[in-house]
Amino acid sequence: MGLQFTLLDGRRHDRAGFACGIAALDEYLHRLAGQHHRDGIATTHVLIEDDQPARILGYCSLAAAQLLLDDLRPDDRKRLPAYPVPCVRLPRLAVSREAQGQGVGRLLLGHAVNCALAMRANAGVRMLVVDAKDARAASFYAEFGFRPTTTVAKTLYMALGKS
Ligand SMILES: CC(C)(COP(=O)(O)OP(=O)(O)OC[C@H]1O[C@@H](n2cnc3c(N)ncnc32)[C@H](O)[C@@H]1OP(=O)(O)O)[C@@H](O)C(=O)NCCC(=O)NCCS
Repeated sequence: MGLQFTLLDGRRHDRAGFACGIAALDEYLHRLAGQHHRDGIATTHVLIEDDQPARILGYCSLAAAQLLLDDLRPDDRKRLPAYPVPCVRLPRLAVSREAQGQGVGRLLLGHAVNCALAMRANAGVRMLVVDAKDARAASFYAEFGFRPTTTVAKTLYMALGKS
């Protein structure tokens, strides 16, 4: 099956048909993602199959953010200047119920990392920050090397590129 990432397009993608099991994540895609994209609040990227291009297998959203030095664990603060750390935030990542457990979440996370690295080529970006909805979601991110901030256990981060 051919898969591709693309930016959400309400004319082509079936937002209303998406359900991941967490109402807040479904409603964001149904009602707010398009508006946030237009307003420069967050971009939403969807994963689709070539032969069913309207069906959203999963999505993630991305936005600019910052962390305070105190949010980082002491060993991650080394050599950083004494002002807020520039970041890309991944506030939402969700996989449709039918597609869960098949590696789609892993692909979406990889895509988010690639996007953040591409941004890093043009502007300072030190960390990718994720907001986990609950402890299970936090363990999903921890499995990929994200570390919890010192301040909010469900907010985790990972350094991008060379330190
Ligand atoms: C959590 C979620 C994103 C995972 O996506 P997925 O496509 O089912 O996960 P994948 O198949 O890519 O699995 C990748 C790895 O994460 C693990 N994993 C999957 N779901 C997990 C969860 N909820 N908690 C912890 N680990 C999880 C898998 O075991 C797998 O590890 P392995 O390769 O060592 O076996 C997806 O189940 C989902 O959208 N759930 C509802 C919304 C949600 O909880 N979002 C979380 C971000 S706020």
